Amino acid sequence: MCGIVGYVGKKEATPLLLSALKRLEYRGYDSCGVGVISLKDGRIAVQKTPGKIQNLVDLLKTKDLPLSHVGISHTRWATHGKPTRSNAHPHADTSGKILIVHNGIIENYQELKAELQSKGYRFTSETDSEVIAHLIASFGRDDLFKAVQKTLKKLVGSFALGIISSDFPDRLIAARLGSPLIIGVGKDENFIASDVSAILEHTRKIIYLKDGEIADIRSDEVCVYDLSGRKVPAKIQTVSFKLDAVQKEGFPHFMLKEIHEQPEVLSAMLSLRLKKGMVVLEGIGLSDTALVQCRNIMIVACGTAYHAGLVGKYIIEQLACVPVAVDVSSEFRYRSPIIDKNTLVIAVSQSGETADTLAAVREAKARGAKVVSICNVVGSSLTRESDGVLYTHAGPEIGVASTKAYTAQLGMMYLLALKFAVIHKKLSGFRVQSLVKGLKEIPATLKKILKDKARIAKIARANAHFGSFLFLGRNVNFPSALEGALKLKEISYIPAEGYAAGEMKHGPIALIDEYRAVVCITPESDTYEKMISNMQEIRARKGKIIAIATDGDTGIRQHASNIIYVPKVDRLLTPLVTVLPLQLIAYYIAVARGNDVDQPRNLAKSVTVE
Ligand code: AGP
Ligand code: GLU
Repeated sequence: MCGIVGYVGKKEATPLLLSALKRLEYRGYDSCGVGVISLKDGRIAVQKTPGKIQNLVDLLKTKDLPLSHVGISHTRWATHGKPTRSNAHPHADTSGKILIVHNGIIENYQELKAELQSKGYRFTSETDSEVIAHLIASFGRDDLFKAVQKTLKKLVGSFALGIISSDFPDRLIAARLGSPLIIGVGKDENFIASDVSAILEHTRKIIYLKDGEIADIRSDEVCVYDLSGRKVPAKIQTVSFKLDAVQKEGFPHFMLKEIHEQPEVLSAMLSLRLKKGMVVLEGIGLSDTALVQCRNIMIVACGTAYHAGLVGKYIIEQLACVPVAVDVSSEFRYRSPIIDKNTLVIAVSQSGETADTLAAVREAKARGAKVVSICNVVGSSLTRESDGVLYTHAGPEIGVASTKAYTAQLGMMYLLALKFAVIHKKLSGFRVQSLVKGLKEIPATLKKILKDKARIAKIARANAHFGSFLFLGRNVNFPSALEGALKLKEISYIPAEGYAAGEMKHGPIALIDEYRAVVCITPESDTYEKMISNMQEIRARKGKIIAIATDGDTGIRQHASNIIYVPKVDRLLTPLVTVLPLQLIAYYIAVARGNDVDQPRNLAKSVTVE
């Protein structure tokens, strides 16, 4: 959600900022802008526009910005005020000397705005962010750093900030509280960005700014302070991930590339985490004894990660007999959950920056629970706040619709379930080994399904005209139904619902007619017959059925109009396999409808506001 890039150095700032900002496009945005300090006359100059960065590039062809070595840029995901030019960032104070870009929400902006307006500060946008520029100005122009420091103390909410001022043309100030921001350390140049991928081509030396920290950045120096102004040590870390990971490499979309990466992601995870048939969960931060003492598990997550958590519940309860509750983070934090020091809270998040999940973790810790996170982004806020971290190492996920991160989260859930089953002595060695063997075969199974993607594409296209979809599954594949529906609605904008098939009679059956397509997730399972009965009920009401079934299941042909076969795997492991055709169905339908698959409307890759 929202992208910030800032630069101070010796190169021409505008082209550098624009190309770095482009690398953050995947995060989701609706307008963008860039502001620089002119090298010639030291004045601030800004250009901004609704829509894509390409619009900004085109605008700059006619309304050029002056040559500059210092600047800030922004992609906005509107929270306060429509995505218009005037609401786009950067925002300036009334004098036009201070320029800010902001990610997050200033919750007390109305009160601050009223106060500033009464003192004569003129506002030109509807955003909450603009107050920051005026507030800094209100603290005087002699000491920018002090003025920012005083401003931050007045802000309630969340922010990542980039600030420049024509009074201090060689400086860039950055600050964060609750929204991600990193500093890239280069030679005679320094950067700020919402995430590492933006600046990877310039430097791999990164400082992860912590909550409540302010950085005073010049081309040859980075100084980090806490809110009280005390200098704090800034640890420079070298990141290793490759730039290829943030390029499409011949695929038409990041989403399709990431779908294809799933076999590799899973096999890398399994070879790292399975040693001599034993699950090794390095990073979990808790001893086996401490894990056994956890009487119950609570999983918190949002969106796709929540669905991975639901699969986790089914398999941990079935394999390890430990009670598991799953909550969407935004509900968990406000419902007074009953947890204590014997509860293990597992927070699942691809980005590690999801505001609701972070808040849920804080709530859990305040109540004494231990927190282990399953996360994809190394060094993200979530990982720093957890007692233990299980990294999924799926590589950067650029497509807004999560695919490989989900499969990786599922993989980790299976490993965790096996770990709990072993330490609670609930599974025979034979069953453990058979599940481990089954898990190791999944990557090859996924590759087989991918080989058949042309057939899945054909089925998807043939059904792309339906105005609404229902996804049904049972047991471990009930979450798969939710995930299939979420994928479809996110990128095709077709109303889609996921349901536990047994619930169909309790309401959704009223919707079934010849205009409704129903995806039935029907692999071999203990509930197979029940699913077949549901399919008959749908057929009787003229619903169009697309079934996902196990290879060799010829009987299903009489019930479904389209069948996508997947290879047979252990029944408990089927969610790892059934999700792949669901992702492909969503992908090909969205492509057929001409949608922007990687950056669907209104969505952001990491939701850093509540
Ligand atoms: C997935 O396709 C979504 N874009 C979204 O639901 C996502 O899973 C959710 O916002 C959680 O994000 P996180 O995993 O980064 O915490
Ligand atoms: N709340 C701010 C706005 O609406 C910032 C949004 C963002 O993070 O992009 O302008």
